[in-house]
Amino acid sequence: MIKQKYYLIKTYGCQMNVHESEKLAGVLNLFGYIETSEQLSADIVVFNTCCIRDGAEQKLYAHIGALKSLKKNNPNLIICVCGCASQAEGRAEIIKKKFPFVDIIIGTHNLHVFQEYLESFIENKKYICDVWENEREINENYNALRTSGANAWVNISYGCNNFCSYCIVPFVRGKERSRKMEDIINEVKNLIKEGYKYITLLGQNVNSYGNDIDDKNITFAKLLEKCAKLDGNFKLKFMTSHPKDLTEDVIKTIATNDKICKVIHLPVQSGSNKILKLMNRKYTKEHYLSLIKNIRNHIPDCYISTDIIVGFPCENEEDFMETYNLIKEVQYDGVFAFMYSKRSGTVADKMEEQVSNEIKRKRVNELLKLSKSITKQKNSELIGKVINALVDSYDKEKKGYNTFTDSGKSIFVPSDKNIISIHSFHKVEVKRMINNKLIGEFLN
Ligand code: SAH
Ligand code: SF4
Ligand code: F3S
Repeated sequence: MIKQKYYLIKTYGCQMNVHESEKLAGVLNLFGYIETSEQLSADIVVFNTCCIRDGAEQKLYAHIGALKSLKKNNPNLIICVCGCASQAEGRAEIIKKKFPFVDIIIGTHNLHVFQEYLESFIENKKYICDVWENEREINENYNALRTSGANAWVNISYGCNNFCSYCIVPFVRGKERSRKMEDIINEVKNLIKEGYKYITLLGQNVNSYGNDIDDKNITFAKLLEKCAKLDGNFKLKFMTSHPKDLTEDVIKTIATNDKICKVIHLPVQSGSNKILKLMNRKYTKEHYLSLIKNIRNHIPDCYISTDIIVGFPCENEEDFMETYNLIKEVQYDGVFAFMYSKRSGTVADKMEEQVSNEIKRKRVNELLKLSKSITKQKNSELIGKVINALVDSYDKEKKGYNTFTDSGKSIFVPSDKNIISIHSFHKVEVKRMINNKLIGEFLN
């Protein structure tokens, strides 16, 4: 009897990587591997890495280092490192030196060649380190093994042209390349047929979709509209939106199509025009606030979240207070606040007047406190409202259903009986809030 082989993929970073890990899983499946969550039983461990902040990168190295003894006990274990960190300049050399027990190192631009690399390694047992300097044309030849429950990720574009001065993504993901509209729509159609309830369109900046295609009719608003007009019981999401490119067309398309979730993640990064300029974000606080006003006019109950960087070079107390006050003014449903982290190769890395870690920590904590109090207030405003939610699972111990709203908010629905099918949409009336957790009742 042939022994079953197991894979373990450790995914770091954003949704792009989550979906790319699903593509890697598709390849590992072809080789006969099945998933395990146990490091000890794995025959291959793949690190799909992120380097957006130094903290993420250092954590990753600690995790790779921890595999040294595992490899000693099991020399047949295959270890692969891929993704943004191995693509970043000089990192493949560091990984090679620090962790000589790693077998395969590849970057982001040659991820689609993973199958061939693995084939070759299994055959020759010869160490592979291949990181391509530049991006190539989009490769459509993959079969993702999806692992995100009712949600399916769909790339609409790869890479980024924006070069925000703090960000390493354009360096590790290459120039922006949009997929063909018909390829995206065909993929979405198939996913609907397969029964996925949420389909999330992915791009570093979804709003610039189509800018690299020589046809004025290929825009994000058109793509959204076409996907939303497809038949089936599903809902559409998308991320991430860049405030400089979000158009009124897109806002109207979201407002007028029931199948598009009323959820927008619109990272502002800072509330200070001085800092926004230094960040190379290409919009002002005033423009951003006019977008929020426009969204709320067309979509009154829209869930709006944001990303913030605190402690960007030259950020003084006044700049920080502008960010603080902007969060208060917008009353976001979700705030993801990060401490600025120097990334080599980026423009901000060379800026003088870096802010101390102590101040960054203090500022990030202040924002977390503020956003928590806003969330609590917003949650309490939901009591009595009826919300569309997806049943995710039944909890036998707590006796009830875990459900999620379109924005990912969880609502617990107590019930003695486990009779409602998982991954079906229902109307839930929010009844109360206990310890900041929402409790509801099904209306259908
Ligand atoms: N393309 C998306 C996601 C970028 S990465 C976008 O433009 O929104 C996700 C978030 O990480 C960013 O929005 C930003 O807030 C944060 N980030 C990026 N680079 C960073 C850095 N060097 N230090 C701290 N946070 C950073
Ligand atoms: Fe980074 Fe800016 Fe591109 Fe987002 S838009 S990936 S923050 S460079
Ligand atoms: Fe995402 Fe991290 Fe790469 S945030 S694009 S996985 S650097």
